[in-house]
Amino acid sequence: MLPSYYEFINPVKIVSGNKAVDNIPYELNQLGVKRPMIVTDQGVVMAGLLKVVENAIADSELAIGAVYDTTPPDSSLEVVKEIAGIYRSNRCDSFIAIGGGSSMDTAKGVNIAITENSDDLSRFIGAEMLKNRLQPFVAIPTTAGTGSEVTSVAVISDTENNVKMPFTSHYLLPNVAILDPRMTLTLPPKLTAATAMDAMTHAIESFINLQKNPMSDAYATAAIKIIRENVVNAVKNGKDADTRLALANAATMAGIAFSNSMVGLVHSLGHATGGICHVPHGIAMSIFLPFGMEYNLEKARGVIGELLLPLGGSELFACTPKTSRAEAAIKIVRKLQTDLYSFCGLPMTLKDAGVPRNKLEQIAQAVMDDGALTFNPEAVNQADALRVLKMAYE
Ligand SMILES: [Fe+2]
Repeated sequence: MLPSYYEFINPVKIVSGNKAVDNIPYELNQLGVKRPMIVTDQGVVMAGLLKVVENAIADSELAIGAVYDTTPPDSSLEVVKEIAGIYRSNRCDSFIAIGGGSSMDTAKGVNIAITENSDDLSRFIGAEMLKNRLQPFVAIPTTAGTGSEVTSVAVISDTENNVKMPFTSHYLLPNVAILDPRMTLTLPPKLTAATAMDAMTHAIESFINLQKNPMSDAYATAAIKIIRENVVNAVKNGKDADTRLALANAATMAGIAFSNSMVGLVHSLGHATGGICHVPHGIAMSIFLPFGMEYNLEKARGVIGELLLPLGGSELFACTPKTSRAEAAIKIVRKLQTDLYSFCGLPMTLKDAGVPRNKLEQIAQAVMDDGALTFNPEAVNQADALRVLKMAYE
């Protein structure tokens, strides 16, 4: 049944293919800019990926206005201020963000500071607080996971006050997302698995949560099928460009899905576990995903059952009775977990991920403050969260 009302937006131009990065000069020309600032991190530099982008620009009429290549894993207000100063003094006119979530979020934060000509980002915290179109922004993901290249969200840490500042605005959607298999070929197996499971969780949560709609469903189911078909091969044969490009596309599709339909309990658990015990986001997603699906079985049995089609294929879907499809879908996610554990050691339990048991109460408490719970089909209280955490522990 269709929702009585919904909105869906994705104005991001997707440029996908082998050597797609070489199209940057054309894309920036189209956007009418000439001095992009590159925002990236040392991991990208060490993997030789910054060079790929610099080479793409070298023979063009563009000039790289500045390069900031030391973005930390957690974006912060201080870093945003520092980069904004460099952007202004070098008279840059646009952004190229290369990396995972942090480089993208940081560059988005800088874009707010530049456009609004203010380093006080606190005025823009929350939903749709931006009133002006931002500077042109090209996103080049180097992990197939976060989906930041197509989301309207940025999270910047205020380290002084120890809080995360969330910004949501359609102006934060990049103009162009470039998916080039060269940018993920060197991603190590475990990181490949973890980021793919983050994308899988974006797709599955957006499909089962309360804000789902037919547009996001289409992106979510397409993403799930591609991830299911490619993730193990990407872990085993990292240099397979076709597989890498497939996963990059799936992560972007999952990003489009959850940017519109939001996520749920699995992300709430992951945010809290990451905040308190520093478990990497993708690993937390992989651990919690089947438990999150199980938790929602009663309220969302039908839609979870529908996931058997993209997860298990048409034959399995057709020969599984409707009443058993939800459990069968969860079983496939658990099998995927086991496979990824055996191929690259992706942790399957909180204990494996280094979470001390005595932190579970504190994590459960933090879950209750997470906004993603709003869209979860089943209501969640602190005791429920603790119960799921205990099940995921070992
Ligand atoms: Fe995520």
